[in-house]
Amino acid sequence: MNLKKTAFSLLAAGLLASAPAAMATTFKMALGDAAGGTQWELGQKFKTLFEQKTAGKHSVDMFPNGQLGDEQNTVNNAALGTLDFSVLAINNVTPFSPTVGVLTLPYVIQSAEDAEKLTLGEVGKELTENTIRDAGVRIVGWAYSGFRVLTNSKKPVTSLDDLKGMVIRVPKNEIMIATYQSWGINPTPMAWSETFTALQQRVVDGQDNPYITVSAMKFNEVQKYVTNIRYIFSLEPLIVSESVFQEQKPEVQQAILEAGREATEHSFAYLQATEEQIKKDLAEKGMEISDPANGEQEWIAKATGTVWPQFYDSIGGKDKLDKVLKALGR
Ligand code: MLT
Repeated sequence: MNLKKTAFSLLAAGLLASAPAAMATTFKMALGDAAGGTQWELGQKFKTLFEQKTAGKHSVDMFPNGQLGDEQNTVNNAALGTLDFSVLAINNVTPFSPTVGVLTLPYVIQSAEDAEKLTLGEVGKELTENTIRDAGVRIVGWAYSGFRVLTNSKKPVTSLDDLKGMVIRVPKNEIMIATYQSWGINPTPMAWSETFTALQQRVVDGQDNPYITVSAMKFNEVQKYVTNIRYIFSLEPLIVSESVFQEQKPEVQQAILEAGREATEHSFAYLQATEEQIKKDLAEKGMEISDPANGEQEWIAKATGTVWPQFYDSIGGKDKLDKVLKALGR
């Protein structure tokens, strides 16, 4: 990717050493979503714990709603050391470190427990090392946001036939683009920061994201119909610039890692405690919710049959997927 190349040419030029954020005692944290969702909850918890653990010597300022740039740009800025932290969807990290794509392959993660097992186990550890190597950012925490459901402003969708003719926004993520193509439509790749306006102005008919994100972003104001597909469980890592991390004293690094781990535990509990209620609230506010017909079978068959093999190479080989499935007991 060009962005990755940009980050690395600057790394090679040794410009990181002079990055201003490295010396900061107040760190900046970018968040792609508005305040109030799982990204915010993880970030808040991390901020509180980190400030406590460093006895107020260090603090974190949070900038929600893409104020510090689109999610994919924040990865590049963190790689450059001009941004300290970012919370963003894993699918927006994949272009910079393709092996994390294994977490976005459709229907691999089938429950919140699967998501927790992968992120906190060997797989998560390996992917964290890969993002440091490939993208110059370190994953220090995870927000668990629930399954990405499909929303649209036109009509109830329960089958792939219903999907035909719909203009659906997806992140600029090749796995997600290929998944919609396997379902028979060409989706519209678009930055997250442009999505609300595009839905509002009906440039696109729909998008997918978890209930908690739909609510935090107030998508219910511009989307009426929801389909409970479960193709991707949304994982949203908290990343820190590796150059910023390496410039910290060992006790500060330790505080970052501990605060990240504890905020991750909090995020899992938060999802369990809130998701059902948020779904009910969205229904009360007028969203019409449907399940895909026949247990989602046609969606699953098309996506796993054609999308998985297309991405074996980019995730590091079929063995990597087999390892993940084995870790999940499948
Ligand atoms: C996206 O759809 O680009 C992201 O999943 C949005 C998010 O970070 O919540």
